[in-house]
Amino acid sequence: MTSTSTLSTSDEQRIREDDLVRLVRASFDGTPDPRLREVMQGIVEHLHAFVRDVRLTETEWLKAIEFLTAVGHITDDRRQEFILLSDTLGASMQVIAINNEVHGNATEATVFGPFFVDDAPHVELGGDVAGLAAGQPCWVEGTIVDIEGRPVPGARIEVWEADEDGFYDVQYTDDRVAGRGHLFSDDDGGFRFWAVTPTPYPIPHDGPVGAMLAATGRSPMRASHLHFMVEAPQCRTLVTHIFVRGDETLAHDSVFGVKDSLVKDFVEQAPGTPTPDGRDIGGATWSRVRFDIVLAPAGT
Ligand code: BEZ
Ligand code: FE
Repeated sequence: MTSTSTLSTSDEQRIREDDLVRLVRASFDGTPDPRLREVMQGIVEHLHAFVRDVRLTETEWLKAIEFLTAVGHITDDRRQEFILLSDTLGASMQVIAINNEVHGNATEATVFGPFFVDDAPHVELGGDVAGLAAGQPCWVEGTIVDIEGRPVPGARIEVWEADEDGFYDVQYTDDRVAGRGHLFSDDDGGFRFWAVTPTPYPIPHDGPVGAMLAATGRSPMRASHLHFMVEAPQCRTLVTHIFVRGDETLAHDSVFGVKDSLVKDFVEQAPGTPTPDGRDIGGATWSRVRFDIVLAPAGT
């Protein structure tokens, strides 16, 4: 694509810029791995197209390099600012879209996020993943089927979520494990557990990505959600969330993770409404939601 601004340059200037793109592209012609060659030459084409398209100034390029340097400096074992950058630019969701192609009525995937932890506790069906996580109790239930509608028994279901203050357990300094767990679907593909009703929270925004959001008038908030990762033999692993219908943040989720098909009714239950499993929640309000999951076949 030739940009309007490139069109307004003289023929001689355009030839000079085209020549440079060709030269840099050709420098990768001898890359032995064909895929690496394709990716590197693609980066060259698109990077140069961008620089030429916006007629980037030298000061702006330096600023971009300072920004990326700051992204690197704040990144460590606990903080991955490059992933936040990818998320807030929508690149993560684009990679997910490409790698989780539409397949029949398979449930849509969305961002993984930085708060998954291996070895979350095992919770029996009907158990409570909230643990010490504060929030309104929420009963979550559903079934897992394949695209032919056959139940998927024994699927491993990982769930994780923030508490009502918007923090994951790993964001506290006391090593608590709360708001996460794993369970397995029953013989009919069914699952059920207690959690807390999700509430909106900001992505970490005290670093360069937060500064970028502030400078561009964007919100760091994520729409209220509950994370799922579902794994079963012969099925494509599904990483997704469910979102709360009616949440005002749905329309401007900072990482572009919201999909209409994943917005669910979290139906609030009046105090004293009997719980599905007879659990006594002391007359508190609670909510319930249904999430029926369809897994695509492995390798699709
Ligand atoms: C999250 O869902 O927790 C999340 C996703 C992307 C970036 C930051 C947080
Ligand atoms: Fe999250």
